[in-house]
Amino acid sequence: MRVLLVENIHPDAVASFEAVGAEVVSIERALDEDELIEQAAGVHLLGIRSKTNVTDRVLAELPDLLAIGAFCIGTNQIDVAAAQGRGVAVFNAPFSNTRSVVELALAEIIAMTRRLTEKDRGMHAGVWDKSATGLHEVRGRKLGIVGYGNIGTQLSVLAENLGMEVLFFDTADRLPLGNAKPLPTLESLLSQVDVVTLHVDGRKGNQDFFGDEQFALMKPGALFLNLSRGFVVDQEALRRRLESGHLSGAAIDVFPEEPKGRGDTFVSPLQGMPNVILTPHIGGSTEEAQQDIGRFVAGKLRDYTLHGSTSLSINFPQLATPEHEATRLVHIHRNTPGVLAAINGVLAEEKVNIDGQALGTRGDVGYVITDITARPTEQVVEALKRLPDTIRVRELKLG
Ligand SMILES: NC(=O)c1ccc[n+]([C@@H]2O[C@H](COP(=O)([O-])OP(=O)(O)OC[C@H]3O[C@@H](n4cnc5c(N)ncnc54)[C@H](O)[C@@H]3O)[C@@H](O)[C@H]2O)c1
Repeated sequence: MRVLLVENIHPDAVASFEAVGAEVVSIERALDEDELIEQAAGVHLLGIRSKTNVTDRVLAELPDLLAIGAFCIGTNQIDVAAAQGRGVAVFNAPFSNTRSVVELALAEIIAMTRRLTEKDRGMHAGVWDKSATGLHEVRGRKLGIVGYGNIGTQLSVLAENLGMEVLFFDTADRLPLGNAKPLPTLESLLSQVDVVTLHVDGRKGNQDFFGDEQFALMKPGALFLNLSRGFVVDQEALRRRLESGHLSGAAIDVFPEEPKGRGDTFVSPLQGMPNVILTPHIGGSTEEAQQDIGRFVAGKLRDYTLHGSTSLSINFPQLATPEHEATRLVHIHRNTPGVLAAINGVLAEEKVNIDGQALGTRGDVGYVITDITARPTEQVVEALKRLPDTIRVRELKLG
């Protein structure tokens, strides 16, 4: 198995592949299209982060590629549909950095409630402003979580441990954890809580979903956090609410327009305001999260390659792979009627006994695993490859 990792992926991923005898090349920087085609020739597994684009042209030039690991959360940099059509599974790490985001949100809630950035700035400027006015404990305060998903729920649990009362609003029906209270509307949440924190996903409908109308409903003196997506919040409306004193602080980690690279200039209407914490989209950026992403995605790629497991793939049908000791045939095909019958026709004709079989489909692709005791002959594999809708056939030796 040959593996190419680009963009400085965590060494734990390299170790994970090497442990199963893979030959790994790890490159620190991102690659452009031509470089990627050249460097990834003959590679079975490709690991990237957010700055390397895997286009249809790249995929067409890499016929040996079995799977791509996005060692990050987003997968916009990959032509996922083209990968599906070419039988290349894509995996990412949707949960590895949730804890990091939650810890930053908590740190900011405490920092703003105690006005720490103002006190710190004063001290560095030589001002000894010892006063309790406007400084509060978070204990007993009401936290309003908008978006009760992976991050929202974890924040809910930790905030309750700090003694906060948690209320949440989610467009989906979510099970409340601990003593958290679900509210039926966003409006009812906004008017009750001392802190509003957004953890909604990036669906199109969330564009500009939090603007002046929503800020107006927040309690005077409330705090606002956005660590979800930049485009969900109207930054100018937020600035006006902070300037007028209606809101007493804000912590923003994500922006409608973010600079491309480290060291680039950043401009925002929220700059220079007191009790406003601005961070460069680092909610999920910790060494722990990077390590977990390395471990998690490498594990998914290994399980797919060695056992055919598609669990948590973002473009393949998700099939649980049962324990099996002998041989597994993996058949990836265009999702059209009759393919399973055609596969079984080939196996029956060649007198191959099936121990177990599972089919899953997703969009235009179908995925069949067939467990057999004896190794298939070359004729069997070739006949499966020749079926008109076959995209790829793999034979895995298990046990
Ligand atoms: N700042 C960072 O570095 C960083 C890191 C990781 C994730 N994120 C972002 O955090 C957000 C949350 O991540 P997650 O893993 O918890 O996502 P998730 O998909 O698990 O949860 C999102 C929740 O928001 C709900 N939702 C969507 N639109 C809503 C709306 N308009 N009103 C109320 N609820 C709504 C969904 O039903 C879902 O329960 C995402 O936007 C993600 O991109 C940011």
